[in-house]
Amino acid sequence: MRDFLMRTVFFAAVAAATSCSVPKVQPISRAIIPEPRSIAWSGQEESQLIWQGAWMWSIDELWSIHQSAWDDWLPGDSDDRGLAISVQHAAGYDPEGYSLEVNADGVIIKATTAAGAFHGLTTLRWMLPPDSENFGPWSLPMGSISDSPRFEHRGLLLDCCRHFMEPDYVKRTIDLLALHKMNILHWHLSEDQGWRIEIRAYPELTSTGAWRTEADGSRHGGFYTQEQIKDIVAYAADRHVTIIPEIELPGHSRAAIAAYPWLSCTGDSLEVPHDWGVFKDIYCAGEDSTFRFLEQVLLEVVELFPSEYIHIGGDEAPKVRWESCSKCQRRIQTEGLHDEHELQSWFISKIGAFLAKHDRKLIGWDEILEGGLPEGATVQSWRGMQGGRDAVAMGHNAIMSPTSHCYFDYPVESIDLELVYSFEPEPDGLEGSGRILGGECNMWTERAPQDRVDSKVFPRMVAMSEVLWSSKSQRNWGDFRERMEQHYTRLDAWNVDYGWEAIPVGIACTPSATPGKINVQLAQVIAGIDGEVKWVRHGIEQDAEQILDRPFEQSFELAGEGELTVDLRRNGIAIGQPWRFPLAGHAGVFKPLELGHEWSTNYPGGGQQGLADGRLGSSDFRDGCWQATQGKDMSVSIALDAVQQVDSLSVQFYLYQDAWIFVPDSVCFQWSLDGQNWQGNWVFQTNWRGVEAFESEDTQGVVRLAVPIHERAKFVRFTALNPGPCPDWHDASGLDSWLFLDELVVHSPVQYE
Ligand code: ACM
Ligand code: ZN
Repeated sequence: MRDFLMRTVFFAAVAAATSCSVPKVQPISRAIIPEPRSIAWSGQEESQLIWQGAWMWSIDELWSIHQSAWDDWLPGDSDDRGLAISVQHAAGYDPEGYSLEVNADGVIIKATTAAGAFHGLTTLRWMLPPDSENFGPWSLPMGSISDSPRFEHRGLLLDCCRHFMEPDYVKRTIDLLALHKMNILHWHLSEDQGWRIEIRAYPELTSTGAWRTEADGSRHGGFYTQEQIKDIVAYAADRHVTIIPEIELPGHSRAAIAAYPWLSCTGDSLEVPHDWGVFKDIYCAGEDSTFRFLEQVLLEVVELFPSEYIHIGGDEAPKVRWESCSKCQRRIQTEGLHDEHELQSWFISKIGAFLAKHDRKLIGWDEILEGGLPEGATVQSWRGMQGGRDAVAMGHNAIMSPTSHCYFDYPVESIDLELVYSFEPEPDGLEGSGRILGGECNMWTERAPQDRVDSKVFPRMVAMSEVLWSSKSQRNWGDFRERMEQHYTRLDAWNVDYGWEAIPVGIACTPSATPGKINVQLAQVIAGIDGEVKWVRHGIEQDAEQILDRPFEQSFELAGEGELTVDLRRNGIAIGQPWRFPLAGHAGVFKPLELGHEWSTNYPGGGQQGLADGRLGSSDFRDGCWQATQGKDMSVSIALDAVQQVDSLSVQFYLYQDAWIFVPDSVCFQWSLDGQNWQGNWVFQTNWRGVEAFESEDTQGVVRLAVPIHERAKFVRFTALNPGPCPDWHDASGLDSWLFLDELVVHSPVQYE
């Protein structure tokens, strides 16, 4: 008699003792990620199960195996090819939990749900050696595993708006999520820079809103038809991944407004923007037509996505248009609201009520707390953990994805694998509250088209999968790191184009005995790396490229401004993008320097010598090279070795208004023979274009400013006046802006000698 169903899957396995012609057995793997809740290996190597035959482990085949393993749970449907893997239905397991036992007869996986059985089969796959992606035989360790997740919400946000991702890439991402027992794809489908979901009632959303003209004149865009979406949703469901769609409102809606200008307060015709940031044109909260539009959009969305939750964004919605819109102001009056924050809360509540009518729950970014949290809403906390705490304090649920640990668009210099692994989604005091549903890693794609996304998501998502699945007491960085080493072999087999887990190569710049030069020494921070190192000097006439010989073993001298580019390999495999160090050997480097400001402790940028240390700030303002102040001016003076010809002076600023970083109001380059009598002039921002400024007019990036001098000098000085508080139109209007500066470069003929 059997009170459970059993199904034999695929090739037979035999106990080692019963076979006298067993081929060489590959070593077993205990490198399971995420780490199961409990594992008891029998420790009897000789009684391992030997698995014969070939089992193709392509991702597609794995899923057909998983599928058939579960779908074939039909009464009377077992066969007698010999017991290999049996998947058994049993009551009492966690909704995603399972047990897995390997004994002399084979493998038994038990679960209450299909998802649990699926996770059990995934674990079984991970017990095979990491390089076992093709053919056996393999051995399996005898023992048993009992497992269930710590959090029910284990997600990845994929922004397919800033850059469009092909449907096949989305599917592959779903495969990789499932392999790591992640169960949520938070699919970001509408944004300022692109609307990506076909809405039948509003075809212009995709015919117009899905396409933008880039700064160079090229077109970027794409969208998912409803048929493609149904296919992807079903594909995810087969892998026990739920897709939560995000339709942003009331902000981040410029693409929709480009398609239908009547959605905004002004009704002005606007393009789909190609630059990044927070835009002030948002949906008008005063017009009823806005809500007819949004409800129709959401109606089509809920028909396509069966998820319990729908994400409605709610972040970064400036109120400036609402403040001067008569319709929005009338709405504030008629609804008895106090201000525009309450208008946003009213807006979100109205949408929440519509979703509730369709049996869906609302998730919004933590800004939805402002002006009052809509009933039943779940908060996704991104500006730190406080939003999540506040939501829980009000009796709501929260999902944690703070920028500090979960923003995988940030470079590995600021969020490395170990930092991700240290993430704790349940802050002190909220443990066991049951209100923290889980966490997400957020992959925003302003600076990551599809072909760069792997290198941002991996390997960091592997660490996040363990954070969200395994119990807190199990977490052990050293142990994880060892398992990770084996896991790279799996990532290679799955053709994952992973990036670095930490800064792979270090650099030290020191003074050189040769005037106008710096000494550079590279260091291999991660074992097993090598690669070609190039120095691309931004020349007076043209960029000159030089390949350096044995750069990791010897220090070398560099002169002039340029970029040291390291094409790195790890164990012979090229990884990620080339590593870049913008550098400058110049007449002022490592010379005595005085600062007229105190740097922010968050952005010391190399400290006292940081503005003349040969290291230039890069396109990442968190790279450690930028020195910054908030609400203050900056100035630096340098004493050169001797009176000498100075051709020009240059500095660079960082501009990122979204992060409150502005360029100075005005600057002054000065020079002197004696340090007493100075020459030089103020240059105002409005005049910069005439002096080789604004290499980039993007809202985020490096702004370089150079002035010709052609004078003899022993002292040089640079002053930048803070632009004052963030302007009226800015989200942080009235609060102190930031000034980011790096390196006063003194161009002198000495460096060309
Ligand atoms: C966000 O990163 N604006 C949610
Ligand atoms: Zn309005």
